[in-house]
Amino acid sequence: MAKNALSFVCQNCGAAYNKWQGKCESCSEWNTLTEEDTTGATSMPANLRPKRKGRPFALESLTGSSPEAPRLSSGMTELDRVTGGGFVRGSVLLVGGDPGIGKSTLLTQATSLMARAGHRVVYISGEEAVAQVRLRAARLGLADAAVQLAAQTSVEDIIATLSEGTPPRLVVIDSIQTMWTDTVESAPGTVTQVRASAQALIRFAKKSGAALILVGHVTKDGQIAGPRVVEHMVDAVMSFEGEGSQQFRILRAVKNRFGPTDEIGVFEMTGLGLREVSNPSELFLSERDLGSPGTAVFAGLEGTRPVLVELQALVVPTTLGTPRRAVVGWESSRLSMVLAVLEAHCGVKLSGYDVYFNVAGGLRINEPAADMAAAAALVSSLANAPLPVDAVYFGEISLSGAVRPVAQTSARLKEAAKLGFGRAILPETARGDAVGDAGLTLNTVGSLTSLVADIA
Ligand code: TYD
Ligand code: MG
Repeated sequence: MAKNALSFVCQNCGAAYNKWQGKCESCSEWNTLTEEDTTGATSMPANLRPKRKGRPFALESLTGSSPEAPRLSSGMTELDRVTGGGFVRGSVLLVGGDPGIGKSTLLTQATSLMARAGHRVVYISGEEAVAQVRLRAARLGLADAAVQLAAQTSVEDIIATLSEGTPPRLVVIDSIQTMWTDTVESAPGTVTQVRASAQALIRFAKKSGAALILVGHVTKDGQIAGPRVVEHMVDAVMSFEGEGSQQFRILRAVKNRFGPTDEIGVFEMTGLGLREVSNPSELFLSERDLGSPGTAVFAGLEGTRPVLVELQALVVPTTLGTPRRAVVGWESSRLSMVLAVLEAHCGVKLSGYDVYFNVAGGLRINEPAADMAAAAALVSSLANAPLPVDAVYFGEISLSGAVRPVAQTSARLKEAAKLGFGRAILPETARGDAVGDAGLTLNTVGSLTSLVADIA
C-alpha cells in the first residue's frame, strides 16, 4: 500500500509545501495553504505508464489527414465567434463564471442544438440531479434533444460511461470542482482532486477526439477556484460575465490556442434562456439618457466587430483630502492618464473633484481608442454641457495631448451610421486606413485641447 503523503497545497495556485506557512511563495497569496492527502497525485504506478516511446511525424504529413471537420459548430453564432469557429475536436475548454451567471443554461442550450444536429453529446452534471437538468431543458424548449444526461461525480465512472458505444463528440463536465478520482485521497474540490480529475478527463478527450468542456466556478476575487491549476492544462479558457442586476451576459475568451482572444459573445438572459444578441450596440445604447451632461458614445471594436457603447462620467467637487476615482468597465490607470493629460495640457483642473466613470451595459473596454470618448464625457460633466446626441467619439490620446489614429475607422463609422448617428469626432486616420463613405459628418481633432474647446 502506498504511504500516506500529506502536504500543504495552495488552493489558489496548486503549489505544494511539506510544512504549513502563512504565505504561498509561488503566488504570494496569504492563508491559502490547506493540508491535503496527495497520495497518488504525483507519480503514476509503473504498470500504468505507457510503454511506447513517442514517434516523430512530419508536419506536412498531418495536414488534411483527418476526414472529419476539426471544428464542431455549437449552433450558436455568438458562442462560435468566441471559440473561433466552433469546438475543436480533442480540445479542452474551461468555462468560468460566478455561480448563477448562466453557465449551465448556456451549455444546455449549446449541447441540445448539437444533439439536434446529430452529434453524440454527453452532459455530466455533478451539481444537479438528472431531473433538474431535464427540467431546465424543458423550460428552454429543448426537452426533445437527444443529449445524454448523467449525474455523476466519479471520474472513473464517467470515463467508463463515455467509453461505451459510439465515441461522444462533445462532453460537458458541470462542474470540475465536484469531480473526484480514486487515484488521489484528498477531498473533492481540493486542488489535488481538481487537478487529478481534470488530468484524467483531458487524457480521455485527447485519446477519444471528443471536445471537452469543463465548467469552473469563480471565487470572490475572480479566480476560478482551484483552477489556475486547470487554466494552464486546457486549450482555451472562457469567462462568462455579467452584472447581477442586468440581463446582459458577455462570453469572453481569456486564452485560446485555436482562435482569437479579443472576440466577445453577447447574450441576454430571458425567461426562456439565453438569447443571442447579434447587434450589441443596439443593446448597449437602448437605455441612453439623451441630452444629459457627462455621457459620450464610444465607437469601439470588440475583436472584429464594431460595438457602440455609452461612457458615463460624473465629476463632482470633493469633500475628501484625496479625491475619489471610481471606475467600472475601464482600466483605472487609463482614466488617471486621461485626467492627467486634461490637467497638464488643457487647463482642466480636476484635482479638487471626485470622478466616477462607468461603461454602460456591463461591458468592459480594453481599447486605448476609448480615450477621446472618455475625455469628452469627463469634460461634458465638469462643464455641465451635454454633448450632441448624434455624435460618436473615438481616438487614442497620447501623454502630450495629441489625438492618435486608431485602427478600423471605416468599420466604426459604418456601425455608427447604421444606428442613426450623424457625426463622428475622430483623429486623422492612419495612413492606409480607408475611411470609406459612411455618410457621417466627420470632425477630425488633432489635439485634446481642441476637443475641450469645442465642448466647454
Ligand atoms: P445557471 O445556468 O444555473 O447558472 P450557473 O450554471 O452559471 O450557476 O443559471 C442560473 C440563473 O439563470 C438563475 O438565476 C435563473 C436564471 N435563468 C433564467 O433567467 N432563465 C432561464 O431560462 C434559465 C434556465 C435560468
Ligand atoms: Mg450550473
